[in-house]
Amino acid sequence: MSKKFLVTGGAGFIGSNIVDELIKLGENPIVVDDLSTGNRTNLPSDVIFYECDVRNKEQLEKVFQAERPRYLIHTAAQISVSKSVREPFYDAEVNIMGMINLLDLCVKYGIEKVVFSSSGGVMYGEDPKIYPTPESVCPDPFSPYGIAKLSCEKYLKFYEKEFGLRYTALRYGNVYGPRQNPDGEAGVIAIFAKRMLRGEQVTINGDGEYIRDYVYVKDVVNANIKAIEIGDGESINIGTGMGKSVNDVFQTLKSKINYTPEPIYGPARAGDLRKSILENSKAKNILNWEPSYDFERGISETVSYFERGK
Ligand SMILES: NC(=O)c1ccc[n+]([C@@H]2O[C@H](COP(=O)([O-])OP(=O)(O)OC[C@H]3O[C@@H](n4cnc5c(N)ncnc54)[C@H](O)[C@@H]3O)[C@@H](O)[C@H]2O)c1
Repeated sequence: MSKKFLVTGGAGFIGSNIVDELIKLGENPIVVDDLSTGNRTNLPSDVIFYECDVRNKEQLEKVFQAERPRYLIHTAAQISVSKSVREPFYDAEVNIMGMINLLDLCVKYGIEKVVFSSSGGVMYGEDPKIYPTPESVCPDPFSPYGIAKLSCEKYLKFYEKEFGLRYTALRYGNVYGPRQNPDGEAGVIAIFAKRMLRGEQVTINGDGEYIRDYVYVKDVVNANIKAIEIGDGESINIGTGMGKSVNDVFQTLKSKINYTPEPIYGPARAGDLRKSILENSKAKNILNWEPSYDFERGISETVSYFERGK
């Protein structure tokens, strides 16, 4: 019998890659997305699709009534940290109230488990002191986006205790790969790949020594699939345990693409964390998950994808 997955944000970068994998596994996932940053073309045309805002509980309930999903993979979110700083109310409406709408409906319609897309990049604050950072470090998000992700994890814990709703929260590092929007403000690999393939100039904000844990989207998909069955009640880092600088990203892309110009160094972006690397032994122990793509291979696949759409 099909597990009947509801994937929110399924028209987005990570969500659509999860939908692809579920289809490969013989499932027939249902997608809810308001198409604010996602795109219908990221999905096969025959996918069951509801253009619906997670803030609209009435509309959401109609989807639950009609489709009776058994599992929820919640990736829909306002994903921009800087937008959350400019518009904290909007961020909370989508990322917190949207979550509560869904959790209420999960209880009402007897959902078996929720897998939530959280963020390890913003969870541990400005200076967690330990790198790679394990989940045992006390969360200290600074931006409204990070505060919302931590709130969602707390609500999940509350719904688990109060109503027995099973969940796993996956705290991703910096996810990259096919279908990441190269026109957004986040996603440096997608932004650079697109520009470099067109021979355009690339600007590095600050000195380029900002360190991130870049994790390939197929590994993130795999973590979601594993978390459907195991890892109940846990928040788990999904990263590589290794840091790469923006200068590393530029040099690796440069070596894959026939690109010769040097980058321009611009002003640093306000509020950018200097360093974020996620310790991933909990994912290994609890989810039996390990990244299978190293940086070189992930970048090669990403470049091939952007080459096709150049
Ligand atoms: N990309 C990363 O590096 C990263 C890192 C950590 C966490 N995450 C989380 O992973 C999830 C997916 O992110 P992504 O990178 O695929 O971004 P994305 O923007 O491609 O996907 C988000 C999807 O949610 C949809 N959406 C936004 N607001 C909505 C609303 N009100 N109602 C319904 N749908 C709505 C968008 O249209 C989009 O399709 C998000 O929860 C994000 O916070 C991403």
